[in-house]
Amino acid sequence: MRESSGTGPGTGLILGIESSCDETAAAVVRAGSEALSNVVASQMSLHANYGGVVPELASREHLRNIVPVVREAMSRANITFADLDAIAVTEGPGLAGALLVGITYAKALTFGLGKPLISVNHLEGHIHAVLMETRQRSEIPMELPLLALVVSGGHTHLYLATHQQGSETWTYRNIGRTVDDAAGEAYDKVAKLLGLGYPGGPWIDALAPHGNPRAVPFTFGQIKPRAPREGITSKKAPPPGEGPHFDFSFSGIKTAVLRYVQTHHLHDSIEARRAAFAADPTLTPKSAASVTLCDQQTLDLIASFQYAVVGNLQRQTFAAAEAFGARSIVVSGGVAANSELRRRLQAEADRRNLPIAFPSLALSTDNAAMIAAAAWPKYVAQNFASENLGATPQLRLGQQ
Ligand code: KG4
Ligand code: ZN
Repeated sequence: MRESSGTGPGTGLILGIESSCDETAAAVVRAGSEALSNVVASQMSLHANYGGVVPELASREHLRNIVPVVREAMSRANITFADLDAIAVTEGPGLAGALLVGITYAKALTFGLGKPLISVNHLEGHIHAVLMETRQRSEIPMELPLLALVVSGGHTHLYLATHQQGSETWTYRNIGRTVDDAAGEAYDKVAKLLGLGYPGGPWIDALAPHGNPRAVPFTFGQIKPRAPREGITSKKAPPPGEGPHFDFSFSGIKTAVLRYVQTHHLHDSIEARRAAFAADPTLTPKSAASVTLCDQQTLDLIASFQYAVVGNLQRQTFAAAEAFGARSIVVSGGVAANSELRRRLQAEADRRNLPIAFPSLALSTDNAAMIAAAAWPKYVAQNFASENLGATPQLRLGQQ
């Protein structure tokens, strides 16, 4: 089976709104396949001072940004609110206060305009970012079932996704997830530990090619298969599920990097680097000076960390694809921007003759085009949200 592009009522103009974490975003997408605008107001520099997202600051910034960002998205799309067929908004998962800003604004807009409201799971959005772009490029649709690796600062998930022929409704099954840190979180924490900038992914991505990836042999232990357990309500406790699960764990490698830093007495050089970066905020991950601020031992550590993380993501993804008979692979989320991940997953997919797709760099990280794109099948199915829609910070996607 192939995923279809589909057509439906109206002109298919959907305004997407995303505010689940630290980006306030709005976009207009036509029929899930053509982004007429895609506006993102990033709060990255604000949170960089704290080395991570501060929820209260995020909510305040969303409040400040939501109106101008939506206006800009409408203006760039060159349409009026009356032209819209629906408004889609991220319901979760994410930060409660941040989600509420987008949801409240979207509800007010739909109420005022008399247009339908569509709620979208942020993780589904990441998957549809890639599907939208393959349609936009008029590529052959991805073969189903497809395996989606959603890998970002808050998530590391594997989903098996499909839809029945003739139906626009997608179904998802979670067949793997991190049991502790997300992969992007590990990038961010290791970068912070080594005195690099925030978010850490782009720094480690840019510096890793200057080091020896085999210098420090990091290993990943086997994660025990999930077993049904009753009476456990912690969000870390995996629920009962059928079939094999391909789970991830990234807290161990973060601790291993910390131990390496301690046993090799890297603290002084890290502090010196941190001070140098603080003194010159114009330095970027790709500045030549950023490389020279790292000694060879640190560059080797960075390269080895990335080599191990990407290797782990690669092994689990292809093992899951094989076990579940996936016929194509989609990779999405902030970490999908990583050049080594793209290179190695593409090479492995080519070796196995499996189609694989990545989002453009702009649609790898959080955006609203992905929310508007994921809303399109729901619009066709007239699957609308009620006026009581609230934020669901722990929202899950599909069957677990
Ligand atoms: O999808 P995203 O914008 O937000 C979440 O939903 O989390 O992802 C942000 C994450 C951060 O952890 C960031 O360090 C990571 O994506 N990231 C990268 C790269 N660019 C962003 N990780 C590795 N390599 C990159 N080039
Ligand atoms: Zn995301």
